[in-house]
Amino acid sequence: MSDVHSLERDLLAAIANAGDEAALEEVRVSALGKKGSISELLKTLGGMNAEDRKQKGPLINGLRDKVSGAIAARKSELALAALNARLQAERVDVTLPARPEPRGSIHPVSQVLDEITAIFADLGFAVAEGPDVEFDDYNFTKLNIPPDHPARQMHDTFYLAPQADDSQHLLRTHTSPVQVRTMLKQKPPIRVIAPGRTYRVDSDATHTPMFHQLEALVIDEQTNLGHLKWVVEEFCKAFFEIDTVELRARPSFFPFTEPSVEWDMRCDRSGGQTIFGTGHDWLELGGSGMVNPHVLEMCGIDPSRYQGFAFGFGLDRMAMLKYGAPDLRPFFESDIRWLRHFGFAALDIPTLDGGLSR
Ligand code: DAH
Repeated sequence: MSDVHSLERDLLAAIANAGDEAALEEVRVSALGKKGSISELLKTLGGMNAEDRKQKGPLINGLRDKVSGAIAARKSELALAALNARLQAERVDVTLPARPEPRGSIHPVSQVLDEITAIFADLGFAVAEGPDVEFDDYNFTKLNIPPDHPARQMHDTFYLAPQADDSQHLLRTHTSPVQVRTMLKQKPPIRVIAPGRTYRVDSDATHTPMFHQLEALVIDEQTNLGHLKWVVEEFCKAFFEIDTVELRARPSFFPFTEPSVEWDMRCDRSGGQTIFGTGHDWLELGGSGMVNPHVLEMCGIDPSRYQGFAFGFGLDRMAMLKYGAPDLRPFFESDIRWLRHFGFAALDIPTLDGGLSR
């Protein structure tokens, strides 16, 4: 049986020398495949007499078991080596410093949002949120705009298909429904801002179907118009980074406030650029007012005890004014060259003491 022994030696050597899984597979086929050397030996058992079979059977079967065992062991050895090589090749050093030239930058709307959040956080305001897809009830009815109120027409609303229970969903036309959501779940004192996306069927140089607003709501027992004026003034000073502002209040109308006031800020547009704080021009900031008692009542707040103010300013407008962008449409065109022009770096987080814009 020296042929069995020499075959075993040769095969075990070939298995040990197989450098990869393909070479190992070749050895396997040559030994255990249909026409492999061991398979051929196994076939000879059938033609032997009982005596020979008794003697050689265990030898040949033992060879087969040894060789298959060796192949399996070599196979897992090779797989482990391949995995280690791959891990080595794909190694990432997480302690390396960040790339020196980051290619992305912060969008002006995000920048302005971070600035505004820093300012209002300093004034003690929390940030409230609501969904873009809103109930008709919260966007209109609970803001004192009942179903056939003419103010609904002015909002150019995107409506969604009616629900099975007949309730109507829409894309919120302003951030004011976040006032409703806040009052429904929180008892006064309330001091929140709600920045976010809003939608209207409208499109030209200063209007896009999606835009951003900044809502604010303050409810307490003594809150009055004087507080509103002070907050708007402090906000403008901090946001436009000027020491003095002059505000002009114009009487206005909104169903959800009574009285209602629109604010303008003094500026100078004579040189082609807008300079804030001086000059003979006025820059429109947005609407505001004392929260209408009906609104308080519909939102579960007792109007005989509580009162407060709200305002809603255009966030994109503020970004346009502060950073000198004449057209709103490029804000939402995702042109990286336009974005780079502003150069807001991701790591320069606006803070009041460190500086809002640098
Ligand atoms: N929601 C109003 C709009 O989009 C803006 C507004 C006006 C909001 C007065 C207010 C407010 O909170 O008090 O036209």
